[in-house]
Amino acid sequence: TGASAPASAPHAGPITDEIKAAPDRVLIFDTTLRDGEQSPGATMSLDEKLRIARHLDEMGVDIIEAGFPIASEGDFEAVSAISGVVENSVVCGLARTGAADLERAGKALEKARRSRIHTFIATSPLHMERKLQLEPEQVLEKIEFAVRRAREFTDDVQWSPEDATRSDHDFLVQAVQLAVDSGANTINIPDTVGYTAPEESAAIIRMLKQRVTGIDDVVISTHCHNDLGMAVANALAAVSAGARQVECTINGLGERAGNAALEEIVMAMRVRHDIMPWSNRIDATKIMAASRMVSQITGFPVQYNKAVVGKNAFAHESGIHQDGMLKDKSTYEIMLPEMVGLTESSLVMGKHSGRAAFRAKLKDLGHEVGDNQLNDTFVRFKALADTKKEVYDEDILALMAETGADG
Ligand code: KIV
Ligand code: ZN
Repeated sequence: TGASAPASAPHAGPITDEIKAAPDRVLIFDTTLRDGEQSPGATMSLDEKLRIARHLDEMGVDIIEAGFPIASEGDFEAVSAISGVVENSVVCGLARTGAADLERAGKALEKARRSRIHTFIATSPLHMERKLQLEPEQVLEKIEFAVRRAREFTDDVQWSPEDATRSDHDFLVQAVQLAVDSGANTINIPDTVGYTAPEESAAIIRMLKQRVTGIDDVVISTHCHNDLGMAVANALAAVSAGARQVECTINGLGERAGNAALEEIVMAMRVRHDIMPWSNRIDATKIMAASRMVSQITGFPVQYNKAVVGKNAFAHESGIHQDGMLKDKSTYEIMLPEMVGLTESSLVMGKHSGRAAFRAKLKDLGHEVGDNQLNDTFVRFKALADTKKEVYDEDILALMAETGADG
């Protein structure tokens, strides 16, 4: 596809240095185990987190945010255990700006081959006044302290202004400048409440690139929530403006309406590489397995019509579509199911199905029929399909038996 970046030699410094050598590469930062787990009801056990982390590592995720070590003993243990097993990805732990948070994150990441501390504080007037009850000057002091202290544990530090998209731009520039000057290698811009829209998301990144000195030496990241259903569009718009890290989760799991979905970000860049010419290291054939694993572990079903990984994402029911598919799959599929690890697309038999798909289905079931028998069975099939949402193979075999097929 031309969308995968070549693997590079084992690397000494922070992963952000690799971006300088490959300016079109986008780092995929997966936060299924941190922001995803913050979904009410999505708590995972240590073993389950380890299974997911191993799969993300094998899949080529650049950075795995493994948890929030100060949040609980369980989170600390999970980040520590994941640090011990992950082979290629950078392992990241979240921390607020206090010394205890940063020390706990540093300790949990000790076993990681490559570690990152992600420290954050809110910068919007609403969050500073109402939640933190801090003056902007006090927030700035905390940013400087946190980034400098985090750098004592690792050479890879990410800083986020929480609620960035509702922050005053002058203050956001001041805060980002301070984080860069204090040693952050990644500046992540969260749309914490899923409030922005694509054009605005891009404009914030452009504004920071224009106004923050030294911003070109750090990686700008985007972290979009899906409250208005625009997380993926907002993240891709940020990349078009120069962001080179996307934070996302498997199945779009995450707080409230979730985060940008990893599978959608990756496949959008791959399928529309012509207009989104960025590369990433994800082995997309592992996407379906990741989706099923996360769904099974959390107990969160994947909606049937979910892009890329939903049960119906590669299923075709209407006659016109099925006829097109049988002649040339690209008539109704913009990517092959094999690309995301599905073996084949499915023609679902229902009341919209046509004669061509019905004949193909009969052939699959071992019945080559003449035109008369096809017509007869097809009439019965349509009558049955009017009474059911989906007609299963067993129903069709029963119809064949009724019409006296010899198979
Ligand atoms: O949505 C958010 O603001 C976050 C931060 C911790 C980056 O998840
Ligand atoms: Zn978030």
